[in-house]
This record gives sequence, C-alpha cells and structure tokens, in this order.
Amino acid sequence: TRYWAVIPAAGGGTRMNSGRPKQYLSLKDRALIEWSIQPFLDAEWIDGVVLVLARADSEFARLPIARHPRILTTLGGGARAESVLAGLEVVAERSAGFKDVQVLVHDAARPCLHGSDMERLCEEADDDHGGILALPVSDTLKRARQHKIAETVDRAFYWRAQTPQLFRLEPLIRALKECAEHGLPVTDEASAMERAGYQPRLVRGRESNIKVTYPEDLQLAGFWLAQAQR
Ligand code: CTP
Ligand code: MG
Repeated sequence: TRYWAVIPAAGGGTRMNSGRPKQYLSLKDRALIEWSIQPFLDAEWIDGVVLVLARADSEFARLPIARHPRILTTLGGGARAESVLAGLEVVAERSAGFKDVQVLVHDAARPCLHGSDMERLCEEADDDHGGILALPVSDTLKRARQHKIAETVDRAFYWRAQTPQLFRLEPLIRALKECAEHGLPVTDEASAMERAGYQPRLVRGRESNIKVTYPEDLQLAGFWLAQAQR
C-alpha cells in the first residue's frame, strides 16, 4: 500500500472575513496552513503531499515550508470538490504503476490534527470502503421546519464528519467525477463515496480537530495547539 495526502487550500475564506485567505493567517508564529500540513510531513510513510492552491495565491511560495521536497502543488477550482479532484489527478500521475494507493484528504483549515489520529484512521479504515475521522454529536438534536421543531431525532445515529478522510485513489476519483457530472453538491469525500455505494468507517477523532471557519475559531485553534505543547 502506498499513502499520499491531498490538502485542498484554494478557498477564499469568506466566512472568516479577514481580507486574506484564512489558511495564511498567523497562528502561534507560523501560518495556519503550516500547522495543517506538518503531521503529513512528519509521517515518513506518506509518499508525498499535494497542496491545492488558488490561481491567485501569492502567499504559499513565501512560506518556509514551500521548498519542502515532499510537497507538490497544483491549482484548484471554484468548489472544494474540484480542488480535491485536481489534487487527486496529481497523485494519479505520481503513483502510476502502483496498485493499492490510499489517499488522505485533509482541509488546509484544520491546523490541530494529531498525527496519532491520522495513523489510527489508516489502521481502522476499511481497505475498500475507506474511513473518516468523526465525532458523535453530544447536543440533543431537533429536526425543524422554519424555526419550528418538527421532532427530536435519536442523536445516536448522527456523527460530525472531520478530516482527514481516507479512500482508495481510483474509486475516489470516479465517485467525485460522478457527483460533478450530476451536479450534486459534495462537502466531503465520504459523501461522494456513499453515493457510489461505499460504506466508509467512522473512526473517532477528537474535539480539538476543528475547522477554522469564523474569526473566533482562530483563538480556539491557538488554545488547542498550546494544549498539544507543540
Ligand atoms: N477549498 C478549496 N477550494 C475551494 C473551496 C475550499 O481547496 N474552491 C478548501 C479550503 O481552502 C479549506 C477547505 O477546502 O482548506 C475547507 O473549506 P472551507 O472551510 O469552506 O474554506 P473556504 O471555502 O476558504 O471558506 P468559506 O467557505 O468561508 O469561504
Ligand atoms: Mg467554503
């Protein structure tokens, strides 16, 4: 088995509203994206890391990490799934000839991933169906229509999807292309695989693996990084 990582980082960070893409905001003396990439560079069993950048990106090339020999870059698209597909195509070129290629897809906006959780995902995911880091929901959940509760659902059925998400390269490319052809919105890799008939495994992650989305998330990420004593 060969392992690769794809990190989509071509988003504009509109909800962060900080005037520049959130992946380049500074977090404990490094750019946020450097924290997100680091666990994949530390894992020497990963052949390479494909970073997907926006066409207009002028910031990545200025980071110290940009010259790392195991990082490749390519250009993304207007939606996250398009960016991921672009990254997967690079993996396909680079891993041609290998039969069992597994790809970890991880948001550039998740800087607090523990390397040990990524390793556990690789151990516990199903070889064919793949798997994702996720957490059970702890709040009571309501199904609603126009701000009125229709019913309380059984939260034991619901998990929050995180990244990384691990899938075999070829089936993942096919699944994402299928969704694109049918114009289906895809917010994570698992949803595309589910639609293609796969049943990805849920591997319990941790609360600290947040996706930095709104301004207040940046402080929270700083807190979690300090906890991890990195
Ligand atoms: N992403 C990407 N290409 C896109 C959109 C998103 O590579 N066209 C990446 C982002 O850079 C991020 C990850 O996908 O690392 C998760 O997306 P999200 O948190 O939604 O980031 P943004 O799209 O940048 O933020 P927003 O939705 O607030 O604009
Ligand atoms: Mg987005």
